Amino acid sequence: MQEHILQIVYLIASITFIVGLKFLGNPATARRGNLIAAFGMGMAIFGTIFLFTTKEGNHLGNLGFIFVALIIGTIIGWMVAKKVKMTAMPEMVSLFNGMGGACAMLISVIEFQHLAHMGNSSLAPENITGHMLAIMLGLIIGSVSFAGSMVAWGKLSGNVKDKSFGKQQFINIGLLLVILVLGYMVVFGGSANAVTLFYFVLALSLLYGVLFVLPIGGADMPVVISLLNSFTGVAAACGGFLYDNKVMMVGGILVGSAGTLLTIVMCKAMNRSLINVLIGNFGGGSTNAAATSENFAGSVKEINASDAAILMRYAKKVIIVPGYGLAVAQAQHVVHDLELLLEAEGVEVKYAIHPVAGRMPGHMNVLLAESNVSYDKLVEMDEINPEFKSTDVVLVVGANDVVNPAAKSDPNSPIFGMPILEVEEATNVIVNKRSMKAGYAGIENELFYKPKTSMLFGDAKKALTQLVAEIKALG
Ligand code: TAP
Repeated sequence: MQEHILQIVYLIASITFIVGLKFLGNPATARRGNLIAAFGMGMAIFGTIFLFTTKEGNHLGNLGFIFVALIIGTIIGWMVAKKVKMTAMPEMVSLFNGMGGACAMLISVIEFQHLAHMGNSSLAPENITGHMLAIMLGLIIGSVSFAGSMVAWGKLSGNVKDKSFGKQQFINIGLLLVILVLGYMVVFGGSANAVTLFYFVLALSLLYGVLFVLPIGGADMPVVISLLNSFTGVAAACGGFLYDNKVMMVGGILVGSAGTLLTIVMCKAMNRSLINVLIGNFGGGSTNAAATSENFAGSVKEINASDAAILMRYAKKVIIVPGYGLAVAQAQHVVHDLELLLEAEGVEVKYAIHPVAGRMPGHMNVLLAESNVSYDKLVEMDEINPEFKSTDVVLVVGANDVVNPAAKSDPNSPIFGMPILEVEEATNVIVNKRSMKAGYAGIENELFYKPKTSMLFGDAKKALTQLVAEIKALG
């Protein structure tokens, strides 16, 4: 009876995951979606703790340990999530994703130990291979995801630098092949050394996770992060197969497929093929001699807030390009004020959203939703690019890589081939940032030296507040 109730609980929880995911697709309903899915996850966890029974009719033991672990985890997760700054969110996502991978890895280790030391009595012989296969896949994918996410976390927080060495891609491919062959031997080989090989696979998978993410840098981290996300989902789904636990399977498959779709979208946005991502062969650590400011033709032209205000106030059409700096400065409210003010003066205002602007997928959408910018004002890159030609003023706020023309013109640039917002097509470009420093990809930007471009230096919040005041003063 309890088992049947548990299956119904799992079914309801699975439905909440699907509904939650659907709601997450829109900033207006995302918060609700998160709560619905979290409620479902709570049901699944407590359902398992109180309703699960083994074939022999035993309930879960060690409830004390389970609850202490749950309470500690909840307190840490709650505090970290409460304290995290919006700009540090991607690091936190990477860290949490790594924890998911570590869980899948540990499940595989524990279940392997069961099989190895406690005998196979609980499994029919024909099921052992399937069981071992799920264990091995969970081990490999979970460890790669764990180690890779830790490196990604270090990189996003600026503590780990991109590092590539000669023949990196061949070493990575070789390592992956060795892992797969050894994994095959453990599952199908009936080797007497299966236990040793198993731990060898674990160590090599962790190493692969590190080597796979280490050389990737520049502007290419978004692809890797969403790929690691999908790995964790698949690893969790392996745990679901292992325990024949439907809700774990559904949750894992949803994360795996959503992560894979996001990876494809990110690859498209970065103009990279997935195969390049898989062998860790792109982005940072590039030794190419990308153009530097000495090679740029123009010079940097500064503009003050009152001149910028005049340009924008008397424009017909203004496009605002938000970037990571907008999030750093927390200038989302003041940019919305600016938009409303200009519209009140009869200026048409839109926001141009690059798919990898900021530091996480949808970063700019979330940020602008916070200040109640209407969604129909946010226009995706492909749609807005043809509009720049007919735009009087583009205001770039804290964006850099996503408007770097080197992506189109400099084959030596590490971001060459990445689609960008073609702001230089507009009549005037005003760029707000604090200095001439590079963005995430660490490369110079020729846009700042173009004759049409004027630099409005300063922290985005301060500069935009001043701009708003100047426009108001114009009457
Ligand atoms: P970036 O290229 O990182 O440039 C941001 C610019 O903002 C910097 O050049 C910085 O210049 C400026 N800035 C920082 N703080 C500021 C402040 N308080 N006020 C005004 N400006 C400020 O940003 P982007 O154009 O949004 O591009 C995103 C980059 O991150 C891409 O390379 C992308 O691939 C990468 N990335 C994205 C993701 C996702 S999924 N979105 C994940 C990981 C990495 P100053 O220091 O001179 O002010």
